[in-house]
Amino acid sequence: MIDFAELKTVLAPMYRVGSPAFRARCESAGADLSYHVMLAQSPPALVDAETLSLSGKPTAVQLIGSDPRILANQAAALEAELKGALALIDINLGCPLARITGLGAGAALMQDMPLIERLLKAVVAAVDLPVTAKIRKGYSDGEDRAVELAQRAEACGIAAICVHGRTAAQQFEGVADKTVVGRVKQALAIPVFASGDVLGSASAIEYLHTYGADAVMVARGARDNPAIFGEIKRALC
Ligand SMILES: Cc1cc2nc3c(=O)[nH]c(=O)nc-3n(C[C@H](O)[C@H](O)[C@H](O)COP(=O)(O)O)c2cc1C
Repeated sequence: MIDFAELKTVLAPMYRVGSPAFRARCESAGADLSYHVMLAQSPPALVDAETLSLSGKPTAVQLIGSDPRILANQAAALEAELKGALALIDINLGCPLARITGLGAGAALMQDMPLIERLLKAVVAAVDLPVTAKIRKGYSDGEDRAVELAQRAEACGIAAICVHGRTAAQQFEGVADKTVVGRVKQALAIPVFASGDVLGSASAIEYLHTYGADAVMVARGARDNPAIFGEIKRALC
């Protein structure tokens, strides 16, 4: 079982970038956890343990979807097939890309809180594994709903939450609002992972020490430089 207290550096979910080989490279550089991303399908799509992890380290699987029953079935099928190889099941509530929001999934879900609650409760009930959610600051420009969303998600029984301080409208532009992570951390009892603009050890330490994040998630900084995990680990020593 994953020990959230031991996690400090996380390779963020990155569709198409997070191949097994890339994830293994980041893990050997110092990433404590990495993600495999998949669409929730009916009947459930499965993945073999070797594809999930070349390093043998338990892997997080992020599911994308909008139907509570399909997501719950997918999560249960993965758990039954891959027990031991899975660290957690994460639900994507933040992807802003049209091909995902067009399915009513990812960030589109932020516009329907009751659906998010049904979806998270269904997945939590379907598996013994920890379930987490990855959210953004809000949906449209200037929207700041992360604290409300995170509190409602926590009440559904999730084990931790990942917060990216950009709105969906921002996509990957502009600067991530780090204060969102601090505000979510103060409002919740569960661990909070910080995502957004971790480009070196200084921003990682800012999230961990100033804003109280339990772990930092690195996306583009790792895509361009997997050694960033070692740099962050050394700075934390
Ligand atoms: C190429 C790429 C693919 C991504 N794919 C996903 C994804 O599948 N699921 C997800 O939750 N976030 C995804 N993201 C968002 C990242 O996980 C992260 O939250 C975001 O890029 C902010 O972190 P950064 O400033 O360190 O890049 C992706 C980002 C990039 C750059």
